[in-house]
Amino acid sequence: MPESLFDRLAVGQTAPIVTEPVTLVIFGGVGDLAHRKLLPALYNLHLDGLLPPRFAAVGVGRKVLSDESYRDFAKDGVTEFSRRPFDGAAWQRFAEMLFFVNASIEEGGTLAPLGARLDIIEHDRGLPGNRIYYLAVPPSLFVPTVKQLAATGLVAPPSTSSRRQEPVTTETNAPPFPRLIVEKPIGRDLASACAINDAIAEVFSERQIYRIDHYLGKETVQNILVLRFANSIFEPLFNQKYIDHVQITVAEEEGVGTRAGYYEQAGALRDMVQNHLLQLLALVTMEPPYSLDADVIRDEKLEVLRSLQPIDRTAVVKQVVRAQYAAGYEIGAAVPGYRDEPGVAKDSRTETFVALKAFIDNWRWAGVPFFLRTGKRLPKRASEISIHLKEVPPILFNRTPPGSLDPNVLSIRIQPDEGFALTISSKVPGPRVRIYPVKMDFRYSSTFGATSPEAYERLLLDVMAGDATLFMRRDAVETAWRWVMPILEAWSEQADAPLPTYAAGEWGPIEAERLIEPTGRQWRQP
Ligand code: BG6
Repeated sequence: MPESLFDRLAVGQTAPIVTEPVTLVIFGGVGDLAHRKLLPALYNLHLDGLLPPRFAAVGVGRKVLSDESYRDFAKDGVTEFSRRPFDGAAWQRFAEMLFFVNASIEEGGTLAPLGARLDIIEHDRGLPGNRIYYLAVPPSLFVPTVKQLAATGLVAPPSTSSRRQEPVTTETNAPPFPRLIVEKPIGRDLASACAINDAIAEVFSERQIYRIDHYLGKETVQNILVLRFANSIFEPLFNQKYIDHVQITVAEEEGVGTRAGYYEQAGALRDMVQNHLLQLLALVTMEPPYSLDADVIRDEKLEVLRSLQPIDRTAVVKQVVRAQYAAGYEIGAAVPGYRDEPGVAKDSRTETFVALKAFIDNWRWAGVPFFLRTGKRLPKRASEISIHLKEVPPILFNRTPPGSLDPNVLSIRIQPDEGFALTISSKVPGPRVRIYPVKMDFRYSSTFGATSPEAYERLLLDVMAGDATLFMRRDAVETAWRWVMPILEAWSEQADAPLPTYAAGEWGPIEAERLIEPTGRQWRQP
């Protein structure tokens, strides 16, 4: 079995060592994702010496480009978006591993030219045909691309394929493997997600499919399990006896930018809550897994998703707030409202902000509210999970007035300024007993110095290593959709209901305050 990420961490290794040769085929090779994230991530893996000794990345797209022009395209992306500066000598060696193939599956196109070119590249570079197909294309092309892979014989269907099984060892004489990476969004509701998963399953077995939720690749998100299960101080407290409530905030400063075409069809619930926020929730609340095996961890996360108390349509109005940003300010500069962004309909009802109150119906978490919130054009980019402990009883110190002490809060800062902090009550020096909340603060940057790898570096490496721990299994994706469906349905039934707004640069609409304040709590500003 491939070693899992956390197995490696347990013995102090930070990155998988991939020895098997790999051919990475990027559909959408000249797209935004490849330019901004994938090619820079591969370049950084190369700088760290983490790419397999024999490796090729082959971009596929509708454009007609030579390998040389593709390398120029990649160089632009690396120069602008790489975590580390461009290095001419390192670049030269990296560029030799990049290729481009013009192929399109739209309008009756075929992947036959791709197959022929891959054979040549692999032959020339001594690659045995371990292929990872990355679907960095619009979701409408997921199924047609996978079908074409099967139709052109690049991948044989699971039932008949001799290449179907993943190698169980990392020996180089293992049969070549095909793997598939799928980007979110997987569908825009439960039915479409199931349809995509069904179609993909006709060509790839579940073990060969790596569904990306890039939040799981973030260093701080991986640290949640370490924080919980490599320390004995926190885990005994993580339950309804000691925790008052939990907040998860994923705030973005930017607006919709150039992505209106996608975002108009998605909105914050589909774009962020169904995946990133529910995954964070699952990691913070899951039971301790009995081993570090990828599927054991994913089983425990799934249990959380299954235990989420359904928010039925009638409860949506009480438990979920949606809103859209209006014109406002970002760092002092005037910015337009969502409806005035390029590509957005003037009467758009797409939500750019969601806040909701959720409960987990299991013994550990019964009755503990989880407040989730995400939005674009909020005052700053900040993602944080805060765990608010219960108040001390008003007996010794919390008496005058009752509740005067700030309860302890453990905050896990996902980004930026990665780290975590614990607030604790302490006596202010002096003759009188005055109590003040002080902070124990850990910052990655000051403790570990170097910048953390980008999520895509970790995720690409894990796919090459065959480690699925940080990827979404089909059942998790569908369970998450099942939970958000009543919210989507209630909203589509309330097509005439007023849609709250918030000025760009504010922390969401007043309705979000009204969601939390009647419970005697308030949003924590990260
Ligand atoms: C993506 C969403 O999944 O995550 C985007 O589609 C969002 O809308 C992005 O901006 C946020 O990711 P990060 O890593 O910048 O927090």
